Amino acid sequence: MKILAIETSCDETAAAVLERNGNEIKIISSIISSSASLHALTGGIIPEQAAREQVKLMIPVIKSALNEAGIPLPSAKTKLEQIDALAVTYGPGLIGSLLIGVETAKTFSYIFHKPLVPINHLLAHIFANFIRTDINDIPFPFIGLIVSGGHTDLLCFKSFEEYQWLGGTRDDAAGEAFDKTGRLLNLSYPAGPVIEKRALEIDAHKNVPLSFKSPMLHDPSLDFSFSGLKTEVSRFIQKQKNLAEVEVDEICYAVQKSIIDVLAVKTLRAAEQFNAKSLVIGGGVSANNALRTRMQEEINNRNLHIPLFFPIPSYTTDNAAMIGTAALLNYNPRPWQEIKSNPELYFA
Ligand code: KG4
Ligand code: ZN
Repeated sequence: MKILAIETSCDETAAAVLERNGNEIKIISSIISSSASLHALTGGIIPEQAAREQVKLMIPVIKSALNEAGIPLPSAKTKLEQIDALAVTYGPGLIGSLLIGVETAKTFSYIFHKPLVPINHLLAHIFANFIRTDINDIPFPFIGLIVSGGHTDLLCFKSFEEYQWLGGTRDDAAGEAFDKTGRLLNLSYPAGPVIEKRALEIDAHKNVPLSFKSPMLHDPSLDFSFSGLKTEVSRFIQKQKNLAEVEVDEICYAVQKSIIDVLAVKTLRAAEQFNAKSLVIGGGVSANNALRTRMQEEINNRNLHIPLFFPIPSYTTDNAAMIGTAALLNYNPRPWQEIKSNPELYFA
């Protein structure tokens, strides 16, 4: 089965063509056009501006994805015959951005008579891990950790359809904590990758003088909270007169450590509580190599012998390949008339 997938929940406009052959999910083309450089000018996303960019980019991005997959563009003669179904993110996200992808997908579904699968963007971040030659490599039940710009959630998956929400952030998301720190330090947006790079300048084996508390580390729940960290970092920065470059590196190192410590500890606590057979991480922050290393360290510390999965780096941040993958794993098309953008969509 071949799918054309569309993702427009935030500031990325993405389209992908992919197929499932038995247990293999294969990406044939994946195009992502981001308006992030525009938002870098303001240090964050202005929703109205993001939506306007989506309008401009949607059709050119779909055309590129079809072109790259060698599929003729629709015309009076060809009606996307090589595509079996469509998939689209219907939430959560920014309403103006979501509407562009959802209404485009619905129009395609109507005109070309293709089934349309509505996809929850958050679940798709986890399913990005199944872009592989054998989807059975990842054993159930697994603990899924979603760490993105807008969400931090822990879930237990018994199958592709059956999952339980275990906990999440009570305020800011992990990615937001990186981005807000970046704003305080005048780093470019999105700040996650920059903070990771600057933290690498610090030799962790030497005595690092600075540390910030890992919020809710000792709280028994599987919830998170990151807004206090921003306040702590902000107070610390205000006390300094001029920050030397090395001091900025130290702050980046300490903030990153504070975030990844609590993510690793709570994810492993969930794995123990639910007898997980594997750990699956997804979302923009899962691109962070320090997080990847810290997670493995926590698995070893607890003597757990379970495999750890992260998406291929290019599928950690928003993309349409993960949306199509979610549709192929859990194929549940709905009539286009019933599909509506849902900015508040969370977990059922
Ligand atoms: O999943 P995503 O692309 O968008 C949402 O669905 O929210 O995640 C974007 C977030 C941003 O906050 C960005 O700073 C963060 O992921 N991020 C990172 C890294 N790469 C992206 N955070 C830490 N380290 C990274 N290498
Ligand atoms: Zn996302």
